[in-house]
Amino acid sequence: MNRVQGKVALVTGGASGIGLSTAQLLAKEGAKVVIADFNVDGAKEAAENIKSQGGEAVSIFLDASKEESIKEAVEFTVDHYGSLTVLYNNVGMTNLKKDLDVVNMDLDEWDRLMNVNTKSVLLGSRFAIPHMIKAGGGSIINTASMAAFASDSVRSAYGASKAAVVQLTKYIATQYGRDNIRCNGVAPGLILTPAAKNNLPPALLDIFGKYNALPYHGEADDIGNTVLFLASDESKFITGQTIQVEGGHYLANPTVPDFKELMKKSQQA
Ligand SMILES: NC(=O)c1ccc[n+]([C@@H]2O[C@H](COP(=O)([O-])OP(=O)(O)OC[C@H]3O[C@@H](n4cnc5c(N)ncnc54)[C@H](O)[C@@H]3O)[C@@H](O)[C@H]2O)c1
Repeated sequence: MNRVQGKVALVTGGASGIGLSTAQLLAKEGAKVVIADFNVDGAKEAAENIKSQGGEAVSIFLDASKEESIKEAVEFTVDHYGSLTVLYNNVGMTNLKKDLDVVNMDLDEWDRLMNVNTKSVLLGSRFAIPHMIKAGGGSIINTASMAAFASDSVRSAYGASKAAVVQLTKYIATQYGRDNIRCNGVAPGLILTPAAKNNLPPALLDIFGKYNALPYHGEADDIGNTVLFLASDESKFITGQTIQVEGGHYLANPTVPDFKELMKKSQQA
């Protein structure tokens, strides 16, 4: 209890999935939380749920593709709770239909993903940092993705936009560390958010499972708990890092599962 007592957190994309889990965990550990989301009803419901469990939260509409809307969410947080000391830049989107390989991808989609996934991190941080300096410091956490570190046959824009988030995280940490502001990232592997659980076919989950070092899949709380740690003073000497939360999926030589199977077959023969 009270791991982030006294902190004021703005969580973007907090109405569902990873953002929702994080908002709940931050509130449970004593933070005052602003849940900002496109899905204004979902954000309101999330804040009401937190309040019904004794936490402190409020919601606001956010369109993370728009500079003015991001500014409004930051200003609202400071007006409502008097300061802003934790910013979780979590909104991100992907599009499997238009974000394809380099030759075939839709260029408008490239711009859209760079805007929503990367520029929103820049803008959230740009508007929050002066308030954090006034408050004596703060912690900015950005949601990247393992797509920032490992490439794919499609989703070129998504991967590039998240790689930019990883690098931007380091720049913010470098530029504002002396103001007592830390900036870190979290890079989720496949995370079974409630939406993902409902939508992903079992065959796809089996493929993922085959390559995880651990015998289970990631859940939203696995990211939420990492963000909670990065928001708290427990991580006070960590900055500029992006923590990979991916069950060891990308850890080893990719041939390991196939090699194991081959060994098993040759032992049986
Ligand atoms: N779930 C995964 O497996 C996974 C893996 C790697 C990275 N991520 C990243 O984690 C973050 C959260 O993903 P999630 O799986 O929880 O997604 P989600 O779809 O469950 O939640 C995203 C939330 O963001 C909101 N949102 C989307 N676009 C918005 C916008 N322009 N303005 C304001 N709100 C907006 C949605 O309404 C939703 O509530 C994203 O940045 C995503 O890229 C997720």
